[in-house]
Amino acid sequence: MAALASTQLIVITDNDRCVSDAQQLADRLQLPFGGVTTDHSFVLRVTDHQLELVELGPAAPGPVYVDFVEGTLGHRRRFGGGRGQLVAKAAGIKKGFIPTVIDATAGLGRDAFVLAKLGCQVRMIERSAVVAELLRDGMRRAEQDSEVAEIIARMSLEVADAKEALAGLTQEDRPDVVYVDPMHPERAKAARVKKEMRLFRALVGGDEDDAALLQAALKAARKRVVVKRPRKAVAIEGPEPSLVFEGKSTRFDVYLIPY
Ligand SMILES: C[S@@+](CC[C@H](N)C(=O)[O-])C[C@H]1O[C@@H](n2cnc3c(N)ncnc32)[C@H](O)[C@@H]1O
Repeated sequence: MAALASTQLIVITDNDRCVSDAQQLADRLQLPFGGVTTDHSFVLRVTDHQLELVELGPAAPGPVYVDFVEGTLGHRRRFGGGRGQLVAKAAGIKKGFIPTVIDATAGLGRDAFVLAKLGCQVRMIERSAVVAELLRDGMRRAEQDSEVAEIIARMSLEVADAKEALAGLTQEDRPDVVYVDPMHPERAKAARVKKEMRLFRALVGGDEDDAALLQAALKAARKRVVVKRPRKAVAIEGPEPSLVFEGKSTRFDVYLIPY
């Protein structure tokens, strides 16, 4: 699926104090600032509290922004269990072993946050500059929260294509685990219900190069590659997974190294 053309996206703010920040954001992303027209289907809105992506139109859902402190992630942080979580098992986290992780498809950082909460150092890579801005904004706000700041301190973010970033790693920088959660075409079609998925579908398309990303991940990981899939989806084209962890709606395909 084709990603949103940048002409359909515009930066706005309705707060006079945020004009300079909004203008700088527009410059960084090479997007227009102000003046919404009917050509625009999404706006990046700078408020005095946060950066949010808002879909326009009568049936549009509410704004999407990253919140590591409250909401679903706040709840999961407080009550969401520890090493018993499927993602923890898939990543091989156990007593005495906390892997280093590269999250090659950072998105809004939710999975990276869960892994960082479990103690992992997580290097996040995201190739959409817009998605990365939303994520960076969420990290900046979370750094102000005394409880969450120590988790955020284990997370770093870079804007790059992970296929290239992984291929360029030195021996020393190779992580124990490479985590991969590309957009799945079926998930893109079924995305009507979840506003975050609508966002990914619109901004980044269908991640058609997932097989090449898996190959790069298999070369870069020291111990395993973990691929998140919708439960019923076919595995990414390539070798058979060594282990599969199945949840209610999600599955983790694990490729042990050497595979
Ligand atoms: C389904 S989302 C990931 C959601 C994420 N796991 C979370 O918890 O928020 C997929 C993201 O991976 C990014 N992506 C896909 N292929 C990539 C690549 N080769 N390099 C970097 N980012 C990639 C997309 O831009 C998109 O933001």
